[in-house]
Amino acid sequence: MSDQLANKPPAELWENEDLFCHDLPCRPRSETGRILVTGASGYVGGRLIPELLARGYQVRAMVRADSPEYQQLWPGVEVAVADALHKEHLRAALDGIDTAYYLIHSLLLGPEVFAAMDIEAAIHFREMAEEQQVKRIIYLGGLGDVRTGLSPHLQSRIRVAKELQRGSVPVTVLRAAVIIGSGSASYEIIYHLAKKLPVLLIPRWARSRCQPIGIRDVVKYLVGVLETPETAGRSFDIGGSDILTYHTMLETFAELLNKKRVFIPCPFSGTRLFSYLASLLTPVPAPITACLMEGLQNEVTCQDEAIKAYLPFVPLTYREAIVRAMDREEQDNIHTRWSGAYPPAHELALKLHELGDTPQYTTFYSLVTDKPASSLFRSICKVGGREGWFSNNWMWWLRGAIDRMLLGVGSSRGRRSQATLNTNDVIDFWRVEDLEPDERLLLRAEMKLPGKAWLEFQVHQEGSSRKLSVAPYYHTHSLLGRLYWYVFLPFHHFIFGDLIRQIEQRS
Ligand SMILES: NC(=O)c1ccc[n+]([C@@H]2O[C@H](COP(=O)([O-])OP(=O)(O)OC[C@H]3O[C@@H](n4cnc5c(N)ncnc54)[C@H](OP(=O)(O)O)[C@@H]3O)[C@@H](O)[C@H]2O)c1
Repeated sequence: MSDQLANKPPAELWENEDLFCHDLPCRPRSETGRILVTGASGYVGGRLIPELLARGYQVRAMVRADSPEYQQLWPGVEVAVADALHKEHLRAALDGIDTAYYLIHSLLLGPEVFAAMDIEAAIHFREMAEEQQVKRIIYLGGLGDVRTGLSPHLQSRIRVAKELQRGSVPVTVLRAAVIIGSGSASYEIIYHLAKKLPVLLIPRWARSRCQPIGIRDVVKYLVGVLETPETAGRSFDIGGSDILTYHTMLETFAELLNKKRVFIPCPFSGTRLFSYLASLLTPVPAPITACLMEGLQNEVTCQDEAIKAYLPFVPLTYREAIVRAMDREEQDNIHTRWSGAYPPAHELALKLHELGDTPQYTTFYSLVTDKPASSLFRSICKVGGREGWFSNNWMWWLRGAIDRMLLGVGSSRGRRSQATLNTNDVIDFWRVEDLEPDERLLLRAEMKLPGKAWLEFQVHQEGSSRKLSVAPYYHTHSLLGRLYWYVFLPFHHFIFGDLIRQIEQRS
């Protein structure tokens, strides 16, 4: 059999204790050809890729929007830009693939749309995987007993599994409940509720039982089944070491945060109200809180332990998984996060150069300075997140709060890292559309607006000095949109004038 591993890694490499899989009771398989990881920009996919690379596999990462960040994060990875809703994209992405991980999920599209999108993507994927003679598919889906009334989210995860299994390519299905790890939407909801609220209302469904699992164990199972060929074509439930109610999960988190909390049983159990409140109180936007909270009414525990016969390691307890997630938070080292997965197909993802027109409204604020371009640009790249917007922070905060009330993403998404910034990164209610070091930072608005908006920072050489500028761009066709621009125009003067002065002073 030919040795297909990219470069057979010395055992020290994949036994490095920083890796999730260092103690996995199986070995990298030299027979495995090129691996496709779909959902690579998502939470689980982004954690899986470094582990596969460390074990010597050749990995192709499938994303809908490329970013220079991927080569930095995963040196040696091949990036395929593909949307699973387009068969011809998948045909190219699956070309020459031995095993494909299916980690695609469109929760951010909201409860009305995501299920139809997810099933269409799964049908295309099954068909193209067959056509390209892929040997194996590994899918991570959701736990839940099909005999009970499952939420649309959990039903959709099960339907996707069935759709993939209808083809001739053997599918391994791993079914998990809530995944605990820094950057996961579920973790961030629990964390922010336990941290911010002195009194927590406990609806009836918060007494449903769940078997959360740490991200480290999920990745170990994903890699483990790849390296255990007997698991091909089978379905396994995977869970952490304990079964708890959501109430206990909140209590435990509060205890770990050293917060005294009062829990009051609540007679209302409408998940809509609770998910709306959770979207206001946490950085996770309403479409995601709505889908996740509907699922909390279901018991999600492992129905069997068949996986243990193949991968007999002891998974983390809930408490251990949280402690590890908090460590990672502190390291400012979150590689992938739910908010990184804003769909590029979304109408908000229209790029400034794709507008096909010059934006109708703009203003321009600038100053001239002797400071070097590199230090001005470093200072620009620190805006938002924990550092705030350097001045008039209350105005930015208010705009974010209004956005949350309107079910937008608000500003509490913050930044993944204060130290680094890359194309596609989130900064509060913005996203980095373009970044040219020492010259230009272009942000695209992802807040609710009656139009489309961008914010461009530039540093230009002007004689022996530098011109630092900021320009908001806005495009709208509606009357409300125009009104919005003129209402906010007077504030621009304070906000952007002060902002560039502060950037200059801090550089
Ligand atoms: N996170 C959890 O707590 C949890 C728990 C149990 C099971 N799971 C399962 O684990 C899997 C991965 O979840 P996750 O948390 O990593 O999800 P995620 O962070 O929301 O990522 C979803 C990924 O799907 C991609 N995607 C969506 N629509 C696509 C399309 N049409 N074409 C190509 N890519 C598309 C997104 O790419 P873009 O960046 O382009 O949007 C993103 O990379 C899912 O099947 C989920 O059900 C997750």
